[in-house]
Amino acid sequence: MSPVATRRFSVVTADAMRDLGALVGRTCLASDVIVLTGDLGAGKTTFTQGLAVGLGIDEAVTSPTFVIARVHPSAGAGPDLVHVDAYRLGSAVELDELDLEADLNRSVVVVEWGGGLVGGLAESPIDVSIVRSDDDADEMRIVTVSARGERWETALADGEPVA
Ligand SMILES: Nc1ncnc2c1ncn2[C@@H]1O[C@H](COP(=O)(O)OP(=O)(O)O)[C@@H](O)[C@H]1O
Ligand SMILES: [Mg+2]
Repeated sequence: MSPVATRRFSVVTADAMRDLGALVGRTCLASDVIVLTGDLGAGKTTFTQGLAVGLGIDEAVTSPTFVIARVHPSAGAGPDLVHVDAYRLGSAVELDELDLEADLNRSVVVVEWGGGLVGGLAESPIDVSIVRSDDDADEMRIVTVSARGERWETALADGEPVA
């Protein structure tokens, strides 16, 4: 199996977070699953907005907190985006238990707050963890992206390697 690439990015603004999301979106293929971990306000939804742009989705992405999941159809030939917010799920859950109105083989799935809550999602999910500084006024986020496969090594080459 191809190795896992783990790269760290310093993301100084919300726009830069969207740019990083867009890079990941351009690299994604149908049936990829992205698990986004980070505290409230870390920037998971902001990242997902860029992800949608990278996938070629025209619709605006907002937080799905009051629904579990939202499906954004592709404007073109690319995969749809399924945006799940696992925050309100009490325990581990499998994607197929969510009864999503989407063909997951033709979608990219992104799960906010996935860490520890969502099990059995995918054989090798793309892990994105966002950490903000203790200082609320500091907009900088440290984003660590971990993904398996050569396309990811190439796409993430600008990040700082993490051992
Ligand atoms: N570097 C940054 N990256 C991401 N968001 C940022 C950054 N700096 C400021 N922000 C702001 O922080 C907030 C993040 O909110 P959101 O993306 O909804 O977080 P989450 O989905 O993790 O709860 C947004 O208002 C965004 O504009
Ligand atoms: Mg959110």
